[in-house]
Amino acid sequence: MKKRTFIKTTLLGLAAFALPKKVSALEYYPNGPDKKWAVLYSTWCGSSRDAGVWISEGMDGIANVFDVRENPDLSDYENIVVGGSIRSGVTSDVMQEYLKRNAGLLKSKIRGLFVVCGNRMEAPGPEQTKLLIDDHLAKLCGVSSVPSKVFLGRVTLGLMDAQAREMMTRMNMPEYDNLKRAECMAFGREVLESI
Ligand SMILES: Cc1cc2nc3c(=O)[nH]c(=O)nc-3n(C[C@H](O)[C@H](O)[C@H](O)COP(=O)(O)O)c2cc1C
Repeated sequence: MKKRTFIKTTLLGLAAFALPKKVSALEYYPNGPDKKWAVLYSTWCGSSRDAGVWISEGMDGIANVFDVRENPDLSDYENIVVGGSIRSGVTSDVMQEYLKRNAGLLKSKIRGLFVVCGNRMEAPGPEQTKLLIDDHLAKLCGVSSVPSKVFLGRVTLGLMDAQAREMMTRMNMPEYDNLKRAECMAFGREVLESI
């Protein structure tokens, strides 16, 4: 390779790495002219991603769905649903930090909250709503009295980091899948009808 070609190729390669990573929402649905809705989720193994996509599906797909790890700019959205999976009683550090950083922008736009948890495979009730929504996620978002939902999630050992897998095995926790698409869609409709 000629010296000049080599330098050009190297510089182009370096420039590609320097470009900022494009943040892209999950846009699966055709009915999206109204882009004012967003669902923001945090997940380790995917339950809350699926819940977020199904919540949007319940809204006939008008909400774009964002992983908080992409640090999305939601300033163009008017209505936002926020949710995340639970480990050791709380949502991920990334979600907690994002909500603190963007509190001013989000507060007046949040229309719904959800969490996805194991709850020892038992149906969640008012106690879980208080613990995980009212005293945790709602406080982080600085809102009260918006529609909220605690969903049961799932455990897939093969998707976990070694530490989490070891913890699940130590607790004799079997693999399970209690997340229901119909429940997520119904929550999406409830949120949409609430405004
Ligand atoms: C390490 C670990 C800790 C967990 N801690 C809790 C907890 O404190 N309370 C709870 O109800 N569920 C807990 N769960 C269950 C998860 O919330 C549930 O599996 C959820 O569906 C995981 O979501 P994800 O697939 O989006 O990561 C825990 C799961 C793991 C792996």
